[in-house]
Amino acid sequence: MDFTAELKRHTTRVERGLDQFVPRPDVRPARLHTAMRYSLEAGGKRLRPLLVLAAAELAGARPGHDAALPAAIAIECVHTYSLIHDDLPCMDNDDLRRGRPTAHKQFDEATALLAGDALLTHAFALLAENYPGPLAATLVRELAGAAGSRRLIGGQMEDLLAEKKAGTTTDELEFIHLNKTAAMIEAALVMGGLVGGATEADLATLRQIGRHLGLAFQIIDDILDATADTATLGKTAGKDAKAGKATYVTVRGLPAARAAAEEHSTQATTLLRSLRADTRFLEHLLASMAARTK
Ligand code: IPE
Ligand code: IPE
Ligand code: MG
Ligand code: MG
Ligand code: MG
Repeated sequence: MDFTAELKRHTTRVERGLDQFVPRPDVRPARLHTAMRYSLEAGGKRLRPLLVLAAAELAGARPGHDAALPAAIAIECVHTYSLIHDDLPCMDNDDLRRGRPTAHKQFDEATALLAGDALLTHAFALLAENYPGPLAATLVRELAGAAGSRRLIGGQMEDLLAEKKAGTTTDELEFIHLNKTAAMIEAALVMGGLVGGATEADLATLRQIGRHLGLAFQIIDDILDATADTATLGKTAGKDAKAGKATYVTVRGLPAARAAAEEHSTQATTLLRSLRADTRFLEHLLASMAARTK
């Protein structure tokens, strides 16, 4: 398997899908649709949609067939909305995202807020419109659960509550990471598995892989905030310590963070290898995320 070629194949489909499944920028109100596309088209690693497509093929979806594409785009819409809102002045107050001014800097706060709202809603419309009833209902339940108050939003709430508070415990930190980040990564793998027709047992394994990959991913995000530079990251480096955020690095220190990221990456890979399928692409993807520099 040629990982670079496979990555290109999936990424090209994601970029094409974003263009196909999101309203054109001139649809009224043009300012809103332009803002939605501004944040989506800024790029990013596209990890979550890649996981949807790869998990669907792993579970038996025909390679190159676009069955999983609407689900992949739906999750990238929710993820991008979460970034737009995460960057708002009332949240992390960031000026730079995906190498561009954040949505509220480029447009204004109200437009950024509404672009986020619209992307979130659009994700569920995509699922309802592109899948047969029972599968659509299952996908909606999965994504709504991951994006909801017990998971993504719950994690974001505790992330803010932990800001500038002394004595955040490892347990509290794990709640934040599991929910603000791992929830969507689990959902990506499970939604791909659902579209591909995975068995219940394989869906459970995919969820576990997502949990470990998600924890590793957020720990590495925390490490990169503390160690990489703004130009490489395409978002402001060093902001977590300045904002008094509870991160794996600020709570446990860099060496412990590196060890924990490695541990979770290894667990994700071990679980992946336990699946009886061609897991080579996902194994490479996991390895590339463990070694990422942005
Ligand atoms: C950033 O996510 C927010 C976190 C959950 C750490 P990504 O690092 O996946 O951001 P993009 O999509 O590549 O911009
Ligand atoms: C992001 O956590 C989690 C979500 C957007 C849900 P961060 O606040 O650490 O993400 P970055 O570092 O701004 O991308
Ligand atoms: Mg945040
Ligand atoms: Mg942030
Ligand atoms: Mg961060």
